[in-house]
Amino acid sequence: MAYIKKITSHQNPTIKDFKALENRKKRKETNLFFAEGLKVLGTAKECEWTPVQYIYEEGEAASGIAYDLVDWALQGEAQVMEVPYDVMGKLSSRDNPQPAIASFTQKWVDKSAIKNGLWVLLEEVRDPGNLGTIIRTVDAVGAQGVILVGNCCDPYAIETVRASMGSIFAVDMIKMDREEALTFVSKEWKGEVVATHLEATDDFRRDYNMDGNYLLMMGSEGPGLTKEMSYLASSKIKIPMRGHADSLNLAVATALVLYEMRK
Ligand SMILES: C[S@@+](CC[C@H](N)C(=O)[O-])C[C@H]1O[C@@H](n2cnc3c(N)ncnc32)[C@H](O)[C@@H]1O
Repeated sequence: MAYIKKITSHQNPTIKDFKALENRKKRKETNLFFAEGLKVLGTAKECEWTPVQYIYEEGEAASGIAYDLVDWALQGEAQVMEVPYDVMGKLSSRDNPQPAIASFTQKWVDKSAIKNGLWVLLEEVRDPGNLGTIIRTVDAVGAQGVILVGNCCDPYAIETVRASMGSIFAVDMIKMDREEALTFVSKEWKGEVVATHLEATDDFRRDYNMDGNYLLMMGSEGPGLTKEMSYLASSKIKIPMRGHADSLNLAVATALVLYEMRK
């Protein structure tokens, strides 16, 4: 039976362990991550996630969504803790601490879940803010999920979770190493493979089938898509640019193409 524990010091070992989830090594060891803020945690609840630990600021769960979230955590048998403002401040990654923060088990979907629809494949994405923004956009357009290929940044890093604004709980995340991805794209994916490339000649504003199956391949912030990956594309598209910029930001380019595909 879950109950609420009061903790008053940030030196408490449970609080210290929670805080350590900021660190990628710790997230890898424990398979946990954390998210903060009532709105974001509300999305986790809506998407039927259950927290492992739930920490809230004393006096902040009297009514409304804050109360519902504590109830959700207790129903889910989470470890629920009430802490004072200064402890919340130590835990939060923000200047103005959120009234609630919770840890969750990371969820990686198996590639057998990829059947059809619209998927975004990101090759070696390195910027956590870009990744979070892409996850949010994938959610917004109703695409199925994100496939991370190779050495990508961690979607469960706090910067990514924050930039996703809760969409991390709504979007399927799959990871593949390079070999697996090349086999998947060339032999297993049943649909069109669209690569974005600065050297492409086709404009991204072309006809797409609103209900079609598309794998949209995006390159990394540095070198872009590798030759091996773009070679597998059935079409290559470019977003025209007029000024001095030699490319667009990865998350901006992904959003433009996704909206065009689902317009
Ligand atoms: C910052 S760009 C990488 C630029 C890299 N130097 C290159 O030559 O591809 C990151 C990714 O965003 C996408 N991208 C950025 N600008 C684009 C554009 N104008 N047209 C198509 N894709 C673009 C591509 O997927 C690209 O791999």
